[in-house]
Amino acid sequence: MTDEQQGRFAIGVDVGGTGIKAGLVDTETGNLAFKRVRVLTPKPSTPPEVGAAMAELIELLVSTALELGVVDDRSVLDALPIGCGFPGVVRDDHVDYAANLDRTWIGSNITRILAEHTGRRFFIMNDADAAGLAEMTFGAGRKHRKKTVLLTTLGTGIGTALFTQGRLVPYTELGHFEMNGRDAETQAAESVKVRENLSYEEWAGRLQQYYSQVELLVAPDVILIGGGISKSHTQFLHLIRTRAELKPAKLLNNAGIVGAAILAANNGKAKVKKGSV
Ligand code: BGC
Repeated sequence: MTDEQQGRFAIGVDVGGTGIKAGLVDTETGNLAFKRVRVLTPKPSTPPEVGAAMAELIELLVSTALELGVVDDRSVLDALPIGCGFPGVVRDDHVDYAANLDRTWIGSNITRILAEHTGRRFFIMNDADAAGLAEMTFGAGRKHRKKTVLLTTLGTGIGTALFTQGRLVPYTELGHFEMNGRDAETQAAESVKVRENLSYEEWAGRLQQYYSQVELLVAPDVILIGGGISKSHTQFLHLIRTRAELKPAKLLNNAGIVGAAILAANNGKAKVKKGSV
């Protein structure tokens, strides 16, 4: 990594219900310097356990970068800003809500917890918002910045990110409205397809109901379907009808990491960079 490159690199972390992933991201291109690294999300996923896993993850990222010769000097990596996508609502450094992590996160100061375990400053945003930021900057949302775009991430839960005129409306939580009397994400997330062994056709039926209800609540021009499952979009996307243009996201499982890194590189501002069209 040359001196010139250093300024554009940041570390992006994506906290998920099953894994916590990190990458060294070139925030000018959205590319990872090498394949992302991953640790399992601890069970129970309490703040101290996740903090310890985070320390392990950052160390793994740093040691991998050194082994691969991406940089020769550890101090370069130690100085890089870190962004983190978190699966919940975080306001003023405090967790308001986190459906798929241990309940003890609620009310905790996440920035302090992560700093205590890693010795580093983390910029935090919602994981789906981070994925949306990456898709709007480098992925499937790039061409639609002038429109209203809703990214939905289908994973352990359902995350949403709403952009209008290229600006993020943070913390939309459209995985949690009531559907058939229960939380929508518990019926239509990708984890439900796996758990209940649903065929793509069966799952598409759930998704159809989900997206029809979404479109009663918000009226985006474009809906992007993200999460790892979007790589299999040809199996189910054509079975879903929406008023909005429905498209697969592009950055797959790296979207959250890339978006978090963009946040860090912008000193905590979730800005879609215009120049990257
Ligand atoms: C959380 C969201 C998150 C989504 C995807 C939901 O359960 O409430 O904040 O974005 O899962 O991880």
